[in-house]
Amino acid sequence: MLALPATPPASLLDGLDPHGIPRHVACVMDGNGRWAERRGLVRTAGHAAGEEALLDAVEGALALGIEWLTVFAFSTENWNRPADEVAFLMEFNREVLARHRHRLHEQGVRVRFIGRRDEKVPPALLDHMDRSIELTRDNTRCTLTIAFNYGGQAELVDAVRAMVAEGVDPDDIDVERIRHHLYDPEMPDVDLFVRTSGEMRISNFLLWQVAYSELVFTDALWPDFRKEHLAAAVAEYQRRERRFGGLLTEAAP
Ligand code: FPP
Repeated sequence: MLALPATPPASLLDGLDPHGIPRHVACVMDGNGRWAERRGLVRTAGHAAGEEALLDAVEGALALGIEWLTVFAFSTENWNRPADEVAFLMEFNREVLARHRHRLHEQGVRVRFIGRRDEKVPPALLDHMDRSIELTRDNTRCTLTIAFNYGGQAELVDAVRAMVAEGVDPDDIDVERIRHHLYDPEMPDVDLFVRTSGEMRISNFLLWQVAYSELVFTDALWPDFRKEHLAAAVAEYQRRERRFGGLLTEAAP
């Protein structure tokens, strides 16, 4: 479990190896409901408070030089929540995009989405997703991917369906062919997977892309998450030894 340093560093990069920054960080923004309930507020107030955490995490990613940041905004399973919470989240996500896409654009952030674009997603939200993609498509500092109506299993189902529909020969199916059929074939594998709120689960997020991720969990609830937590997660990541199924060079005979 992640702990923040007792004294906050003067710069976010203090104590970090600038050459060891994870290229792709994925965040499960969990704990909004509990944050609200602890304050005697309705659950949706927790989602609203999560907006500031998201903006701060993006600023942290930019300051740290993280090239890809992917956040789980709404899962294929979240449709099972109470109808008023689902309705709130649809409207809230649309508003967040309307409020912040110009600022993200000025920051050099490219906004992308992964997930199913099906009839359940309100047209007004799809419109704001498309506008955000279009506005920011040529930015190169950081790619913020918002997983919306997303499930890792659904992504693999959709990839298999697409390959079958194209008539791909089973002998031609390999790792690269599958990657090519994921929602964003350009997305690199996840280096660092962060989940807030003390839960230690993947919860159907980026199942393919987390194959060799380092997993970091923090007790902080998402509305309390700030760039300092992101930097602390990167510090923890830099303490890990990544072997990708092989051996460390020093350990090899
Ligand atoms: C999980 O907390 C969080 C969500 C289902 C939604 C998170 C979405 C945002 C913070 C909005 C971000 C906006 C954009 C456009 C990316 P929970 O409700 O599961 O919390 P709990 O586990 O305490 O109940």
